[in-house]
Amino acid sequence: IKKIGVLTSGGDSPGMNAAIRSVVRASNYYGIECSGIRMGYDGLINDMVVDLGPRSVRNLINRGGTELKSARSEEFRTVEGRSKAAETVKKHNIDALVVIGGDGSFTGGTIFQKEQGIPFIGIPGTIDNDIFGTDFTLGYDTALNTVVDAIDKIRDTATSHNRVFFVEVMGRDAGFIALNSGIATGALDILIPEQKDSIEDLFSSFENAKQKGKTSSIVVVAEGEKLGGVYDLAKFTKMKYPEFDVKVTVLGHIQRGGSPTVADRVLASRLGVAAVEGLMAGKSNVMAGMQSSKIVFTPIEEAIKKHNEIDKDLIKVADILST
Ligand code: F6P
Repeated sequence: IKKIGVLTSGGDSPGMNAAIRSVVRASNYYGIECSGIRMGYDGLINDMVVDLGPRSVRNLINRGGTELKSARSEEFRTVEGRSKAAETVKKHNIDALVVIGGDGSFTGGTIFQKEQGIPFIGIPGTIDNDIFGTDFTLGYDTALNTVVDAIDKIRDTATSHNRVFFVEVMGRDAGFIALNSGIATGALDILIPEQKDSIEDLFSSFENAKQKGKTSSIVVVAEGEKLGGVYDLAKFTKMKYPEFDVKVTVLGHIQRGGSPTVADRVLASRLGVAAVEGLMAGKSNVMAGMQSSKIVFTPIEEAIKKHNEIDKDLIKVADILST
Protein backbone atom coordinates (compact mmCIF):
# COMPACT_ATOMS: atom_id res chain seq x y z
CA ILE A 1 0.00 0.00 0.00
CA LYS A 2 1.41 3.35 -1.05
CA LYS A 3 -1.47 5.72 -0.38
CA ILE A 4 -4.43 5.69 2.00
CA GLY A 5 -7.50 7.91 1.64
CA VAL A 6 -9.37 8.89 4.79
CA LEU A 7 -12.88 10.29 5.06
CA THR A 8 -15.54 11.00 7.67
CA SER A 9 -19.14 10.18 6.82
CA GLY A 10 -22.60 10.38 8.38
CA GLY A 11 -23.31 12.34 11.56
CA ASP A 12 -20.12 13.84 13.00
CA SER A 13 -18.89 12.88 16.44
CA PRO A 14 -16.23 14.23 18.81
CA GLY A 15 -13.02 12.28 18.25
CA MET A 16 -13.31 12.10 14.46
CA ASN A 17 -10.55 14.71 14.15
CA ALA A 18 -8.35 12.74 16.52
CA ALA A 19 -8.93 9.66 14.36
CA ILE A 20 -8.03 11.55 11.15
CA ARG A 21 -4.82 12.74 12.82
CA SER A 22 -4.01 9.21 13.89
CA VAL A 23 -4.55 7.75 10.41
CA VAL A 24 -2.39 10.47 8.84
CA ARG A 25 0.45 10.19 11.35
CA ALA A 26 0.41 6.39 11.43
CA SER A 27 0.55 6.33 7.61
CA ASN A 28 3.50 8.71 7.68
CA TYR A 29 5.23 6.58 10.32
CA TYR A 30 4.99 3.56 8.00
CA GLY A 31 6.05 5.52 4.89
CA ILE A 32 2.55 5.60 3.36
CA GLU A 33 1.10 8.73 1.77
CA CYS A 34 -2.27 9.98 2.94
CA SER A 35 -5.08 11.90 1.27
CA GLY A 36 -8.09 13.41 2.99
CA ILE A 37 -11.44 13.28 1.22
CA ARG A 38 -13.70 16.17 2.12
CA MET A 39 -17.49 15.89 2.62
CA GLY A 40 -17.57 12.10 2.99
CA TYR A 41 -18.50 10.02 -0.04
CA ASP A 42 -19.76 13.16 -1.82
CA GLY A 43 -16.14 14.35 -1.85
CA LEU A 44 -15.07 11.09 -3.42
CA ILE A 45 -17.68 11.54 -6.15
CA ASN A 46 -16.75 15.18 -6.75
CA ASP A 47 -12.97 14.87 -6.46
CA MET A 48 -12.54 16.84 -3.23
CA VAL A 49 -9.20 15.36 -2.28
CA VAL A 50 -6.42 17.03 -0.27
CA ASP A 51 -2.93 15.81 0.58
CA LEU A 52 -2.42 15.38 4.29
CA GLY A 53 0.91 15.16 6.09
CA PRO A 54 1.81 14.96 9.77
CA ARG A 55 1.97 18.77 10.05
CA SER A 56 -1.44 19.33 8.42
CA VAL A 57 -3.11 17.55 11.33
CA ARG A 58 -1.44 19.54 14.11
CA ASN A 59 -3.72 20.99 16.81
CA LEU A 60 -6.48 18.64 15.70
CA ILE A 61 -6.64 16.07 18.48
CA ASN A 62 -8.61 18.35 20.79
CA ARG A 63 -11.11 19.73 18.28
CA GLY A 64 -14.75 18.65 17.99
CA GLY A 65 -16.48 18.07 14.65
CA THR A 66 -14.52 16.91 11.62
CA GLU A 67 -12.05 19.08 9.70
CA LEU A 68 -12.72 16.97 6.62
CA LYS A 69 -16.43 17.73 6.98
CA SER A 70 -19.07 15.05 6.70
CA ALA A 71 -22.17 14.25 4.68
CA ARG A 72 -24.81 11.60 4.23
CA SER A 73 -24.36 11.05 0.50
CA GLU A 74 -27.44 10.17 -1.54
CA GLU A 75 -25.46 9.92 -4.80
CA PHE A 76 -23.13 7.28 -3.38
CA ARG A 77 -26.19 5.01 -3.03
CA THR A 78 -26.29 4.83 -6.84
CA VAL A 79 -24.02 2.75 -9.12
CA GLU A 80 -23.27 5.89 -11.16
CA GLY A 81 -22.20 7.78 -8.03
CA ARG A 82 -19.95 4.95 -6.95
CA SER A 83 -18.30 4.62 -10.36
CA LYS A 84 -17.54 8.38 -10.32
CA ALA A 85 -16.06 7.86 -6.86
CA ALA A 86 -13.90 5.03 -8.21
CA GLU A 87 -12.51 7.36 -10.89
CA THR A 88 -11.40 9.79 -8.16
CA VAL A 89 -9.73 6.96 -6.27
CA LYS A 90 -7.83 5.93 -9.42
CA LYS A 91 -6.92 9.50 -10.36
CA HIS A 92 -5.24 10.06 -6.99
CA ASN A 93 -3.63 6.60 -6.86
CA ILE A 94 -5.40 5.80 -3.60
CA ASP A 95 -4.89 2.12 -2.74
CA ALA A 96 -7.22 1.82 0.24
CA LEU A 97 -9.74 3.80 2.28
CA VAL A 98 -10.31 4.40 5.97
CA VAL A 99 -13.94 5.34 6.57
CA ILE A 100 -14.78 6.94 9.91
CA GLY A 101 -18.53 6.80 10.48
CA GLY A 102 -21.55 4.74 11.45
CA ASP A 103 -23.31 1.73 9.95
CA GLY A 104 -24.70 3.67 6.95
CA SER A 105 -21.16 4.72 6.05
CA PHE A 106 -19.92 1.15 6.42
CA THR A 107 -22.70 -0.13 4.17
CA GLY A 108 -21.50 2.31 1.48
CA GLY A 109 -17.89 1.23 2.00
CA THR A 110 -18.61 -2.46 1.71
CA ILE A 111 -20.69 -2.08 -1.49
CA PHE A 112 -17.93 0.10 -2.96
CA GLN A 113 -15.33 -2.48 -2.03
CA LYS A 114 -17.29 -5.29 -3.65
CA GLU A 115 -18.06 -3.33 -6.84
CA GLN A 116 -14.75 -1.58 -7.35
CA GLY A 117 -12.31 -3.76 -5.43
CA ILE A 118 -11.03 -0.91 -3.27
CA PRO A 119 -9.97 -2.19 0.17
CA PHE A 120 -11.36 -0.35 3.16
CA ILE A 121 -11.39 -0.45 6.93
CA GLY A 122 -14.05 1.23 9.06
CA ILE A 123 -13.60 3.14 12.31
CA PRO A 124 -16.82 3.42 14.34
CA GLY A 125 -17.58 7.13 14.76
CA THR A 126 -20.98 7.97 16.22
CA ILE A 127 -22.24 9.29 19.53
CA ASP A 128 -24.94 6.58 19.60
CA ASN A 129 -22.66 3.66 20.62
CA ASP A 130 -24.87 1.35 18.60
CA ILE A 131 -22.22 -0.40 16.50
CA PHE A 132 -21.47 -4.06 17.05
CA GLY A 133 -17.81 -5.08 17.41
CA THR A 134 -16.59 -2.35 19.74
CA ASP A 135 -17.32 -1.62 23.37
CA PHE A 136 -17.43 2.10 22.61
CA THR A 137 -17.81 4.20 19.49
CA LEU A 138 -15.93 7.45 18.94
CA GLY A 139 -17.77 10.39 20.44
CA TYR A 140 -20.01 8.42 22.76
CA ASP A 141 -18.02 9.22 25.91
CA THR A 142 -17.86 12.92 25.05
CA ALA A 143 -21.60 13.07 24.29
CA LEU A 144 -22.35 11.32 27.57
CA ASN A 145 -20.30 13.85 29.49
CA THR A 146 -22.04 16.71 27.69
CA VAL A 147 -25.43 15.25 28.58
CA VAL A 148 -24.47 14.70 32.22
CA ASP A 149 -23.19 18.27 32.50
CA ALA A 150 -26.46 19.59 31.02
CA ILE A 151 -28.70 17.44 33.24
CA ASP A 152 -26.74 18.44 36.36
CA LYS A 153 -27.58 22.03 35.49
CA ILE A 154 -31.22 21.17 34.85
CA ARG A 155 -31.32 19.46 38.24
CA ASP A 156 -30.24 22.68 39.97
CA THR A 157 -33.23 24.58 38.63
CA ALA A 158 -35.58 21.56 38.92
CA THR A 159 -34.80 21.35 42.64
CA SER A 160 -35.15 25.08 43.22
CA HIS A 161 -38.66 25.09 41.76
CA ASN A 162 -39.90 21.57 42.68
CA ARG A 163 -40.31 20.71 39.02
CA VAL A 164 -40.53 17.56 36.93
CA PHE A 165 -38.26 17.65 33.86
CA PHE A 166 -38.45 15.37 30.85
CA VAL A 167 -35.05 15.52 29.15
CA GLU A 168 -34.77 14.09 25.64
CA VAL A 169 -31.35 12.81 24.61
CA MET A 170 -30.04 11.50 21.28
CA GLY A 171 -29.15 7.94 20.35
CA ARG A 172 -31.32 7.30 17.30
CA ASP A 173 -32.77 3.78 17.93
CA ALA A 174 -30.46 3.05 20.85
CA GLY A 175 -30.71 3.88 24.54
CA PHE A 176 -27.03 3.88 25.56
CA ILE A 177 -26.77 7.64 26.08
CA ALA A 178 -30.09 7.75 27.95
CA LEU A 179 -29.41 4.81 30.24
CA ASN A 180 -25.89 5.79 31.22
CA SER A 181 -26.57 9.51 31.60
CA GLY A 182 -29.70 8.67 33.58
CA ILE A 183 -27.71 6.55 36.01
CA ALA A 184 -24.97 9.17 36.23
CA THR A 185 -27.43 11.97 37.04
CA GLY A 186 -29.70 10.01 39.39
CA ALA A 187 -32.78 10.20 37.14
CA LEU A 188 -36.10 9.11 38.61
CA ASP A 189 -36.88 7.16 35.46
CA ILE A 190 -35.12 6.37 32.18
CA LEU A 191 -37.08 5.53 29.04
CA ILE A 192 -35.20 3.67 26.31
CA PRO A 193 -36.31 1.91 23.12
CA GLU A 194 -34.84 -1.43 24.24
CA GLN A 195 -37.34 -1.66 27.10
CA LYS A 196 -41.10 -1.77 26.78
CA ASP A 197 -42.17 0.71 29.44
CA SER A 198 -45.80 1.71 29.74
CA ILE A 199 -47.14 5.07 30.84
CA GLU A 200 -48.36 3.26 33.98
CA ASP A 201 -44.75 2.31 34.78
CA LEU A 202 -43.82 5.97 34.54
CA PHE A 203 -46.74 6.98 36.77
CA SER A 204 -45.81 4.37 39.35
CA SER A 205 -42.30 5.94 39.46
CA PHE A 206 -44.00 9.26 40.23
CA GLU A 207 -46.20 7.63 42.91
CA ASN A 208 -43.11 6.13 44.46
CA ALA A 209 -41.33 9.48 44.39
CA LYS A 210 -44.32 11.21 46.01
CA GLN A 211 -44.41 8.64 48.80
CA LYS A 212 -40.69 9.11 49.41
CA GLY A 213 -41.23 12.86 49.62
CA LYS A 214 -39.26 13.74 46.48
CA THR A 215 -40.05 17.26 45.38
CA SER A 216 -38.39 17.30 41.97
CA SER A 217 -37.63 14.70 39.35
CA ILE A 218 -35.66 14.17 36.18
CA VAL A 219 -36.90 11.67 33.60
CA VAL A 220 -34.37 10.93 30.84
CA VAL A 221 -36.01 9.94 27.57
CA ALA A 222 -34.12 8.45 24.62
CA GLU A 223 -35.25 10.03 21.34
CA GLY A 224 -36.02 6.56 19.98
CA GLU A 225 -38.19 5.34 22.88
CA LYS A 226 -41.57 4.05 21.78
CA LEU A 227 -44.02 5.55 24.30
CA GLY A 228 -44.42 8.82 22.43
CA GLY A 229 -42.14 11.84 22.44
CA VAL A 230 -41.19 13.96 25.44
CA TYR A 231 -43.95 16.49 24.76
CA ASP A 232 -46.67 13.82 24.86
CA LEU A 233 -45.18 12.33 27.99
CA ALA A 234 -45.19 15.75 29.62
CA LYS A 235 -48.81 16.30 28.53
CA PHE A 236 -50.04 12.95 29.91
CA THR A 237 -48.14 13.52 33.14
CA LYS A 238 -49.72 16.94 33.59
CA MET A 239 -53.19 15.46 32.96
CA LYS A 240 -52.63 12.80 35.57
CA TYR A 241 -50.88 15.10 38.08
CA PRO A 242 -52.21 18.64 37.56
CA GLU A 243 -50.30 19.71 40.66
CA PHE A 244 -46.92 18.94 38.98
CA ASP A 245 -44.94 21.74 37.37
CA VAL A 246 -43.78 19.86 34.26
CA LYS A 247 -41.02 21.05 31.87
CA VAL A 248 -39.40 19.61 28.76
CA THR A 249 -35.81 20.02 27.57
CA VAL A 250 -34.61 18.59 24.26
CA LEU A 251 -30.81 18.63 24.37
CA GLY A 252 -30.42 18.23 20.60
CA HIS A 253 -27.20 18.82 18.69
CA ILE A 254 -25.27 20.18 21.65
CA GLN A 255 -24.61 16.46 22.20
CA ARG A 256 -22.68 16.18 18.94
CA GLY A 257 -20.15 18.94 19.56
CA GLY A 258 -17.31 19.79 21.87
CA SER A 259 -13.73 18.86 22.54
CA PRO A 260 -13.37 15.07 22.86
CA THR A 261 -12.75 13.53 26.26
CA VAL A 262 -9.53 11.69 27.09
CA ALA A 263 -11.29 8.37 26.49
CA ASP A 264 -12.38 9.43 22.99
CA ARG A 265 -8.96 10.87 22.10
CA VAL A 266 -7.17 7.69 23.15
CA LEU A 267 -9.75 5.47 21.43
CA ALA A 268 -9.43 7.52 18.22
CA SER A 269 -5.64 7.35 18.37
CA ARG A 270 -5.63 3.60 18.85
CA LEU A 271 -8.23 2.87 16.17
CA GLY A 272 -6.48 5.11 13.61
CA VAL A 273 -3.20 3.26 14.06
CA ALA A 274 -5.05 -0.09 14.00
CA ALA A 275 -6.79 0.79 10.72
CA VAL A 276 -3.49 1.64 9.00
CA GLU A 277 -1.75 -1.45 10.36
CA GLY A 278 -4.78 -3.56 9.38
CA LEU A 279 -4.65 -2.33 5.78
CA MET A 280 -0.90 -2.97 5.68
CA ALA A 281 -1.57 -6.52 6.86
CA GLY A 282 -3.99 -7.02 3.96
CA LYS A 283 -7.20 -6.72 5.97
CA SER A 284 -10.23 -5.23 4.27
CA ASN A 285 -13.99 -4.97 4.73
CA VAL A 286 -13.54 -5.01 8.49
CA MET A 287 -14.10 -2.53 11.27
CA ALA A 288 -11.38 -1.72 13.79
CA GLY A 289 -12.94 -1.67 17.25
CA MET A 290 -11.96 -2.04 20.86
CA GLN A 291 -13.21 -4.84 23.09
CA SER A 292 -12.00 -5.17 26.68
CA SER A 293 -9.17 -2.72 25.89
CA LYS A 294 -7.91 -4.80 22.95
CA ILE A 295 -8.10 -3.98 19.25
CA VAL A 296 -10.51 -6.32 17.46
CA PHE A 297 -11.31 -6.44 13.73
CA THR A 298 -14.94 -7.36 13.02
CA PRO A 299 -16.24 -8.25 9.53
CA ILE A 300 -18.14 -5.20 8.34
CA GLU A 301 -21.29 -7.24 7.54
CA GLU A 302 -21.42 -8.32 11.16
CA ALA A 303 -20.83 -4.78 12.43
CA ILE A 304 -23.73 -3.57 10.28
CA LYS A 305 -26.21 -6.40 10.94
CA LYS A 306 -25.74 -7.01 14.64
CA HIS A 307 -26.34 -4.46 17.35
CA ASN A 308 -24.76 -3.71 20.67
CA GLU A 309 -27.04 -5.01 23.40
CA ILE A 310 -28.01 -2.87 26.35
CA ASP A 311 -26.57 -4.40 29.51
CA LYS A 312 -29.54 -5.70 31.56
CA ASP A 313 -27.47 -5.26 34.74
CA LEU A 314 -27.35 -1.54 34.08
CA ILE A 315 -31.15 -1.38 33.84
CA LYS A 316 -31.31 -3.16 37.19
CA VAL A 317 -28.83 -0.71 38.72
CA ALA A 318 -30.94 2.20 37.48
CA ASP A 319 -34.09 0.63 38.97
CA ILE A 320 -32.51 -0.10 42.34
CA LEU A 321 -31.00 3.36 42.73
CA SER A 322 -34.00 5.40 41.64
CA THR A 323 -36.19 4.20 44.52
O1 F6P B 1 -26.31 9.20 14.73
C1 F6P B 1 -25.99 10.36 15.44
C2 F6P B 1 -27.20 11.23 15.64
O2 F6P B 1 -26.82 12.38 16.37
C3 F6P B 1 -28.39 10.54 16.30
O3 F6P B 1 -28.25 10.45 17.70
C4 F6P B 1 -29.53 11.43 15.85
O4 F6P B 1 -30.73 10.71 15.81
C5 F6P B 1 -29.11 11.84 14.46
O5 F6P B 1 -27.70 11.65 14.38
C6 F6P B 1 -29.43 13.27 14.11
O6 F6P B 1 -29.11 13.46 12.78
P1 F6P B 1 -28.98 14.89 12.09
O7 F6P B 1 -27.74 15.55 12.62
O8 F6P B 1 -28.90 14.61 10.65
O9 F6P B 1 -30.20 15.67 12.50
